[in-house]
Amino acid sequence: MHLPRRQFLLSAAIAGAVFAMAGSGADAAANDISDSAEKKRFLDALLARMTLEEKAGQLNLQAVISPNMADPDIAKQNPFLPPATKAEAEARFAELLAAVRRGDIGGLMTPMDLESVFLTQQAAVKESRLGIPLFFAADIIHGCKTVFPVPLAEAASFEPELARRTAQACAVEASANGLDMTFAPMVDIGRDQRWGRVVEGAGEDVLLGRLFAAARVAGFQHGGRADATSVLACVKHFAAYGAAEAGLDYQGNALSERVLYEVYLPPFKAAFEAGAIMAMASFNTIDGVPSTGNGRLLTDILRGQFGFTGAVVSDYESERELIEHGFAADEREAALLALQAGCDVGMISGLFLQHVPNLVRAGVLEQTVVDRAVRRILFVKQEAGLFDNPFRRIDFKRHRQKAPAAHRALAQEAAVKSVVLLKNEHGVLPLRTKGQRIALIGPFAEDTANLNGPWSPFVPETPSVPLATGLRASLQDPSLLQVVAGCDYTSPLPGGLEAAVSAARAADVVVLALGETETMSGESASRTNIVVPAAQQALAEAVAATGKPVVVVLRNGRALALEGAVRDAQAILVGWFLGSATGDALASVLFGTVSPSGRLPVSFPLASGQEPYYYARESSGRPPPAGSTQRFTSHFLGIPDEPLYPFGHGLTYGEISYGPTQCSADALAADGSLEVFAEVRNAGTRAVEEVVQLYVHDRAAPVVQPVR
Ligand code: NOJ
Repeated sequence: MHLPRRQFLLSAAIAGAVFAMAGSGADAAANDISDSAEKKRFLDALLARMTLEEKAGQLNLQAVISPNMADPDIAKQNPFLPPATKAEAEARFAELLAAVRRGDIGGLMTPMDLESVFLTQQAAVKESRLGIPLFFAADIIHGCKTVFPVPLAEAASFEPELARRTAQACAVEASANGLDMTFAPMVDIGRDQRWGRVVEGAGEDVLLGRLFAAARVAGFQHGGRADATSVLACVKHFAAYGAAEAGLDYQGNALSERVLYEVYLPPFKAAFEAGAIMAMASFNTIDGVPSTGNGRLLTDILRGQFGFTGAVVSDYESERELIEHGFAADEREAALLALQAGCDVGMISGLFLQHVPNLVRAGVLEQTVVDRAVRRILFVKQEAGLFDNPFRRIDFKRHRQKAPAAHRALAQEAAVKSVVLLKNEHGVLPLRTKGQRIALIGPFAEDTANLNGPWSPFVPETPSVPLATGLRASLQDPSLLQVVAGCDYTSPLPGGLEAAVSAARAADVVVLALGETETMSGESASRTNIVVPAAQQALAEAVAATGKPVVVVLRNGRALALEGAVRDAQAILVGWFLGSATGDALASVLFGTVSPSGRLPVSFPLASGQEPYYYARESSGRPPPAGSTQRFTSHFLGIPDEPLYPFGHGLTYGEISYGPTQCSADALAADGSLEVFAEVRNAGTRAVEEVVQLYVHDRAAPVVQPVR
């Protein structure tokens, strides 16, 4: 048994008790710009030469249009843009070039091809008055040419170093597409599983959130911010976007200052200490104030308290949304309030370009506020190395090369480490590669449309491997595998149940591939009822009625409330969205080539109505005895106040036991540390990797502490 993750998290858990301790000295050094005097002079001189219009242009982030977007292969790289004929595409691209030449645009996002990146950068550098380079950004969340598991899945590895490595691989691939920046990592804490964007973060836990935030920033910016194979991390969504009331996307929250500081801000702080110099303001309100217009958040806390020196970008017109919020009267006021609050760059809306010069000339907006925003985004460009070489990431030769082979191997490793084994009765897993008849049943058995998760804007280099393909490739005699869909994602198929039942009857064991489609999680995908869709549940019930042993393999972007035959299956694997290596990785866990080692980064509740359900909830004054539904204690009628599977849960193919813990000291000072020892044994026959976790709890504190 080898225990690298165990040791890491054990020590981190102790340090995690103290918020102020986040980040090491080495991380903090990433923010130290030693040649800053010279760099500062350069920016001062540049700023002094800029007109008000040119300054407003730097605050304007727009989408790239490709002159080739009539080609469907190019168009599909950005499905958000309306289709165009060849003539229209060329005309629109010509307009974009003209705007760049005028100095109306500071950065471009979501490019479809490298040619448009090259041509627009050339226009900026060679044909605009001051030659200020553009920066190019996109949502490279968990993959580009290679697709790694969704961030929530990777968090289940409990191995931040893994996320650092996959983020580095993403950076290498993204920079080969001409990108200087990724709108990632998303470091929002996700405690309500109804919220679809839980899939993009590291789950419900603050410590895990901090460690993964820092690791991902380090990975994206691996060779330093100016490295041609790095991309800048734009940390999002600042802040408390995950605290959306009732888990409804774009909704606000009424967080207390304490919860904001203790829960939602620490992952951001960790990301900044790891060297991130871009942040994205969030869509939501906090206590009635939209983040994009929240000066206390974007200036006092972010800069005053966290020492952030980079730039803040709005989230897709969130400055304009100040009007919908009823926070600003019109576009002019929205631009004013956002800039004054500390939102430096406007994404897509164009409001800063349109209104800043007039606002300044009318004496409403101070010139200094404009200058500070411009200076910040120029500083970001400087740090990205763009003034030294605006074409450093625009390299057609590198662009044409295939992704390094090591990335596919890393995708496999990451996928395997992301899988969580929730239960395994009577050792039904691992399956045997010979002599066992297997029925693979369910809409995700052969499915190719839901392997990568909701955030994969770039079309990957090679198609991801479906589950059935992975299983077939592992079997000595592939004819022992029978594959039946049984139903569609959300509706029955004619004859589907009958076919599934007869396949189950003919098999020794059933693998049921069930869960959510990609569109059921991610942005704008909140769910009221976080269950397996009814048609799939009916399939599970029919198959279970055959009495054959059932192994459920879930595809999911959040924790689910499992019911009936799904919950009662002999074995359950949480398979998330695993990306390129999906089928191969699941097969290697199902057949026991490797032991599962993942742990839940989010609690699986007993019922949807318990949400938000997270392990670090405040202790109630009326806690029910374990497993009870005793009256006048804190629980919902009919179910105990417990999860089905808690945060941190996950089994291996070993037989693990823990000895008693011993501490190096009797007391732990608020800023101190202590060592905890325990003997961890594997009495099983297989080598496994066990993730050891330690939870600390202050039994009597001035503020009520989490249950665990
Ligand atoms: C809106 C999303 O909230 C954000 O995460 C993303 O980066 C931007 N759109 C840009 O695509």
